[in-house]
Amino acid sequence: MPDPIRFYYRGAVQEVRDVPPTQTILQHLREDLHCTGTKEGCAEGDCGACTVVIGSLEDGKLELKAVNSCIQFTPTLDGKALFTVEDLQQQDGSLHPVQQALVECHGSQCGFCTPGFAMSLWGMYLKQESHGLSGRQPSRCQIDDALSGNLCRCTGYRPIIDAARRMVELPAAAFDRAALAERLQALQRAHGFSYEARGGRFHAPRTLEELVRLRTEHPAALLLAGSTDVGLWVTKHMRELDDIIYLGQVEALKTVSEAGGMLEIGAGVTLSDAYAAVCRHYPDELAEMWQRFASLPIRNAGTLGGNVANGSPIGDSMPWLIALGAQVLLRGAGGERQLALEDLYLGYQQKDLRADEFVQALRIPLPRAGVQFRTYKLAKRFDQDISAVCAAFTVTLDGDLVASARIAFGGMAATPKRAAAAEAALIGQPWNEASLRAAMAAMGQDYAPLSDMRASSGYRLQAAQNLLRRFWLETRTDHPLPASAVNAFAAG
Ligand SMILES: Cc1cc2nc3c(=O)[nH]c(=O)nc-3n(C[C@H](O)[C@H](O)[C@H](O)COP(=O)(O)OP(=O)(O)OC[C@H]3O[C@@H](n4cnc5c(N)ncnc54)[C@H](O)[C@@H]3O)c2cc1C
Ligand code: FES
Ligand code: FES
Repeated sequence: MPDPIRFYYRGAVQEVRDVPPTQTILQHLREDLHCTGTKEGCAEGDCGACTVVIGSLEDGKLELKAVNSCIQFTPTLDGKALFTVEDLQQQDGSLHPVQQALVECHGSQCGFCTPGFAMSLWGMYLKQESHGLSGRQPSRCQIDDALSGNLCRCTGYRPIIDAARRMVELPAAAFDRAALAERLQALQRAHGFSYEARGGRFHAPRTLEELVRLRTEHPAALLLAGSTDVGLWVTKHMRELDDIIYLGQVEALKTVSEAGGMLEIGAGVTLSDAYAAVCRHYPDELAEMWQRFASLPIRNAGTLGGNVANGSPIGDSMPWLIALGAQVLLRGAGGERQLALEDLYLGYQQKDLRADEFVQALRIPLPRAGVQFRTYKLAKRFDQDISAVCAAFTVTLDGDLVASARIAFGGMAATPKRAAAAEAALIGQPWNEASLRAAMAAMGQDYAPLSDMRASSGYRLQAAQNLLRRFWLETRTDHPLPASAVNAFAAG
């Protein structure tokens, strides 16, 4: 008999046997558990009305993260703990400081999106506590980031931001992490989890070997990582997925290591952790991209491997990975193989990935002397928005001359793509305005972008050329503009 899904919710272990593998956590909460505090706004990870907090053991350590329950499937909860707005009330019946602050600051405006705001604030509250910062005022930037996945369409964010500041001034609410970690430990399985119901199958291997075996036995099964792309195929495109291999329990895919001048990030590392790891080496170059990639709940669930494997032409990680010269490590029944990331993409939605293969890791060069690197995202909103154009550049100078150049764009072609003609126009030339102009002109040979709802073809090409100019302004050898001056210039 297949295993039931087991997870911890509201003080008890829940055992679930008969829900389709693609039932969302939100549907399970509202329709099966009749816990209707968590709301559905968009069903696509955009609005945050469905935000919940998931507790899991990662390498033996308890992690608590806000995610969008509308695009996560119920079987992914196996071995984890689920927290919803129903959990916030204290044992003596009083409100949690998050709730109390929302009341005092009039932060519950329409009421519908409030549970989602409360859970995002609770996620921040827990994070402060785990860093030993209980009672410390979060910065405005931390508050904005914590709320980046919650949309308010009625009056505005100020009372909610006030509540984020107020909640830490109220008497602290205790959260027993040790007890939760113990309960989760008892839920861990020695082997992979396999679930089957209503004609659908869900396999969750724990080791790479098990994953390779399952991939070979089920070549048509869909690989599921953080579900921030796949979830929408079900909730928006109404796709039936009847055979799923979930990567989220494979410990070996969640490692980050450094060797031989490369940072290796396992395909299953979340976007939050992957960007944190890369930003330790490229803080000035990548911090803004990290903050602007989707929203905190999406980054908490989605993975770097999923971004690369999905290979969307408007994805944000591929341009900078390609510009830095990253390699992708693939694994299949025949063992491992490594490709330059740009060679993974053969055409729109076509990849050099065999039926038995999956992405195992990304290998990213660490900073090297003389290499200048920048990446820029153009989107209509600061966060939680898809790029119209995403650019990344590296140049290496030998004296005054450009020894090497790597230019990659998203939003300009059917795949993430290098600008071969623009690169050729720069190599061997001085890093000056004349070479820049030649490279900008050459970009017209590299790209014939589409017009769509995000931008016209003409806008995209001109923006791409101007981003190369911005890169040159920031890195020219005579009198480079500091990034902030260029930002002010661009804004003005
Ligand atoms: C609201 C919202 C905002 C978003 N904003 C952005 C944004 O700003 N920038 C951006 O680039 N993206 C954005 N995305 C897209 C998405 O978050 C990313 O593409 C994310 O990295 C996908 O990772 P995942 O782990 O969720 O992949 P999943 O959804 O689980 O999988 C995506 C695809 O990759 C395949 N796959 C996953 N892992 C592997 C693997 N290891 N080997 C082989 N195949 C694999 C799956 O089979 C599937 O085809 C957004 C999505 C949403 C819902
Ligand atoms: S319902 Fe909008 S993010 Fe989930
Ligand atoms: S508080 Fe709900 S939309 Fe503004």
